Amino acid sequence: MDLKKIFSEIYDSLNDVEDAGKVADYIPELANVSPDHFGVHLVTVDGQHYDFGDSDIRFSIQSIAKVFSFVMAYSQIKSTIWERMDVEPAGTPFNSLVQLEYDKGIPRNPFINAGAIVVCDILAGELASPKDNIRSFVRDLCGNRTIDYNPLVAHSEKKTGFRNYALVNLMKSFGNIHNDIDAVMDLYFHLCSLEMSCRELSDSFLFLANNGIVPYSGKQILSPSRTKRTNALMQTCGFYDEAGQFAFKVGLPGKSGVGGGIVAVLPGKYAISVWSPRLNPKGNSFKGMLFLEEFTTRTHLSIF
Ligand code: DON
Repeated sequence: MDLKKIFSEIYDSLNDVEDAGKVADYIPELANVSPDHFGVHLVTVDGQHYDFGDSDIRFSIQSIAKVFSFVMAYSQIKSTIWERMDVEPAGTPFNSLVQLEYDKGIPRNPFINAGAIVVCDILAGELASPKDNIRSFVRDLCGNRTIDYNPLVAHSEKKTGFRNYALVNLMKSFGNIHNDIDAVMDLYFHLCSLEMSCRELSDSFLFLANNGIVPYSGKQILSPSRTKRTNALMQTCGFYDEAGQFAFKVGLPGKSGVGGGIVAVLPGKYAISVWSPRLNPKGNSFKGMLFLEEFTTRTHLSIF
């Protein structure tokens, strides 16, 4: 299949669709991104690369980074992670407070903000130098030592992160945050500020399509069983209250971020990343969702 040609045809067909999305501006620094960027990159487990558009420009990966922090905690730290969060889809927005009160400070899953904050609490309590350790982990996954946090984005979010502070305080009141709140939130905001290109994202997620092994280095990151479970979590929880739509229309485990990125994997085959900054009302890339829907429809390369 000529995937590059398919990418270009889908991109052209989407030009007729008005991009009804809006760039995230609740983190002021994210509003500075040019909304018309579009990039896609696919890498197969046997090392073939296909790209289109702005696939080498780095952007703020935001919630996509929650997969990295979760995998780190799940693979490296002997913790009681499943006593501190659940594995159920939330069916609510990524930063919702409502359910957390009913659930006594136990987040529904590791990919909503509350769950990712608990993962940061676990990492902050266990790692010698959490920010450096997470950055090295991500650099190793894609084999690029220049990947870094954007301090301006982290700072911008810290100044305006009132809902996230509400979440962490509520969980602290229930005893589900063990470390100092400011240390945990500093780690969380930095995690979300990581910048990567579509190519780097696809490369770094490829181990999830390859039984937990990074193909280029041969390193086993997760056991096959935990890899399967991580993909199951991405399938059911990776798109918040749009996880059903993504499964219905695209049919791949994946994760989105409010920077406009989406990464998805087809186990045994490939990882794909799309970037288009305008978001739909659920906080997922408007064109990215349409593009992936069309891609798996045309190629039949989905899990269903
Ligand atoms: O905490 C936040 O609100 C952002 N740093 C991340 C949210 C996000 O990316 C949700 N994804 N669609």
